[in-house]
Order: sequence, then C-alpha cells, then structure tokens
Amino acid sequence: MAVSQDAEPAGSLAAFLAALTAFRAAAAATIGGAADAAALEQARIEFLGARGGRLKAVQKLLSDLATADRPAAGKHFNEAKEAVTGLFTTAREQLAGGGAARAATAIDVTLPGDPVRLGHVHPITQTIRQVQEIMARLGFESVDGPEVEDQWHNFEALAIPAAHPARDPLDNFYLAVARGADPLLLRSQTSTVQIRVMEGRRPPLRIVSLGRVYRPDTADATHYPMFHQVEGLLVEEGTTMAHLKSVLRQLASSFLGGDVRVRFRPSFFPFTEPSVEFDMEWGGRWIEMGGAGMVDPAVLEAVGYDPATVSGFAFGLGVERIAARRYGVADIRDFYRNDVRFLRQF
Ligand code: FA5
Repeated sequence: MAVSQDAEPAGSLAAFLAALTAFRAAAAATIGGAADAAALEQARIEFLGARGGRLKAVQKLLSDLATADRPAAGKHFNEAKEAVTGLFTTAREQLAGGGAARAATAIDVTLPGDPVRLGHVHPITQTIRQVQEIMARLGFESVDGPEVEDQWHNFEALAIPAAHPARDPLDNFYLAVARGADPLLLRSQTSTVQIRVMEGRRPPLRIVSLGRVYRPDTADATHYPMFHQVEGLLVEEGTTMAHLKSVLRQLASSFLGGDVRVRFRPSFFPFTEPSVEFDMEWGGRWIEMGGAGMVDPAVLEAVGYDPATVSGFAFGLGVERIAARRYGVADIRDFYRNDVRFLRQF
C-alpha cells in the first residue's frame, strides 16, 4: 500500500513523521464518517489491521530510519497508534450508546442494575509500585529506560566487551530488523538505565528503575523469558558498601515486613567492584534476591565521572522473585497465565 511521504526525502525522520500525520488524518476522517458498527470495523481493519493495515505500512518505514532517529520516531509512532485506537474506542462506544438509547424505551428502568465487576492492578504492577514508594521514601527518584537497547547501554558502558559470553546471540533477543555492527536488542537487564541516567546528569544522584527485561531462558518455576527487574543506583561522595547494605535492608524490611536481615556473598559482575549476591532472611531461611556492588571506576569513567571524587553503589533484583516470595507463590509462571481465579487473590 502506498504511504504518502510528501516532498520529504525517503528514509528521513521528516518523511516518516509526514506519513504518520497523513495516517492520523485519514483515520480520523474515515472513523468520523462510519455510520454503523460494520463500517467502523471495516475502517479498523483498514487502518489498524494486523496484516496489511495502513499502520503496518507506516511501521515498516521505521526500519529505513537512521538508528539515532528511531527512538523519537518510535515515540511518535506509539502516540499515533494510541490516538487512533482511542478514536475507534470512542466511536464504538458512541455507536453502541445510540443503540442503547433507542432500546431504552423497552427497558424497565425500575429493575435493579447489573453489578459492575471491578478489576484490580496486577500483582507484579502492585509490587513495582510498592518498591517505587519505599525507595522514594529513601530519596530515590523513579526513572524509566527504553526496552529496545543498543550495544553501548546494554553492554559496553557496563564493561561487558565484545567477546564476553553475556553478548552471545543465544543468550539475548537481538532484533531481526537490526543491521550492521550495532544491532539493537531487547534489554537483558535494567542496568542499562544506570548508564542512561549518568550520561545525562551529574552526581549526586539516587535513582530506581523498574521495568521489563528479556532473556531466552526456558520458563520454569523461577524463570520467565520476560521478567521485571528493580535497579537501584546511588552516586555520591563517600558512598560505601555499608550504605548499600543499609538501603537493601530497609527495602527488604519495608517490603516483606519486620526486620529483615541482609547477607552479602562475594560474586562477579563486570560493572561493579567489589560485586556481591545478596540474600534476605525471611521465614527462617536465606533467600537469594539479586546482585549488587560498588559501581566499577571504569563505568564511572565511561560516563564522564571522576572516580577519584565520587563513588556509588548499584543493585538489581528480580521483581517476580520478590513478589512470589511475599505472596507465597510457588511458580512465577502463574503471574502470566492470565487466570483471573489466581489473579483475583491479590
Ligand atoms: C543482573 O541482571 C545484574 N544487572 C544485577 C546487578 C545490578 C548487579 C546492579 C550489580 C549491580 P542477574 O543476571 O543475576 O544480575 O539477575 C538479577 C536477578 O534477576 C536475579 O537474581 C533474579 O532474581 C532475576 N532473574 C534473572 N533471570 C530471571 C528470569 N529468567 N526470570 C525471572 N527472574 C530472573
């Protein structure tokens, strides 16, 4: 299907935005003119249809853009998609409302209404919000980062060089559309956000970032190929491991309730030195929660900080694991089976 690109050079951001604007205008006009539900559905297929819809045609143009333009283009694309989807929803409701009004004369309005069943927030989202709230009380600002990442933010700036096994194509979701020496990938850890924040700001800083990460792990009771991580980062003069431990202890105690002890075990991450795995003691048992350490001077240097004057700590833990622990869920796959009988319990 032809997509209008006006006079802009093909493959440029301007051409892409022009195509997006044309798509929105055409969709709004067609939706406005749909006289009934059938016409509206026809329009939905034409514009948003998963196969050969006009939105798909615009999406294909994304892959022609320069890598630097893609984040901005992707943002506009998502906005346009949301806006047009919203137009369809509103139009559908209006058409249904008209029908209901016509039928109202035949309805006995004195009968009791049907109770509306309210849903609630998913347990993983509840957990994310709780952690954000606890960390906010400790002065950590919540920030987001992109789920599609480049090699620099997912690996290189985190001192994970090209030959490192963590970059193996079998251990990551590289994007099929990615070409050249800098293929994009679905981020495999939220440590990417450490870099993005440090690149844009000067210390002192305290941030926490919660979001989705992706790894080709086989799903089992404690693994899922898409899961969520909490990333914490503090960079200030005079930061030590004692600060790290005390923040983790306060996070664990507030989240799980009671005074939860935290234990460090020596470990290795390329971007922290020293590195630890940390466990929390809960219900009389030590439970492994995640990784942490002092931000490696090489990482501070990579983002233009002076390791002689500032130091910092970082930690990362799995949201599904802490949610499972807190709610007594034995298998994290249950969070994603979409069985309302399970989800209704939280
Ligand atoms: C990391 O991802 C490091 N980025 C953590 C870190 C951050 C270290 C900052 C130092 C400083 P790791 O690969 O161990 O580390 O993953 C962290 C946690 O994510 C694990 O402890 C576990 O709770 C969770 N996790 C890992 N893989 C999965 C999976 N497939 N499904 C669910 N949770 C997982």
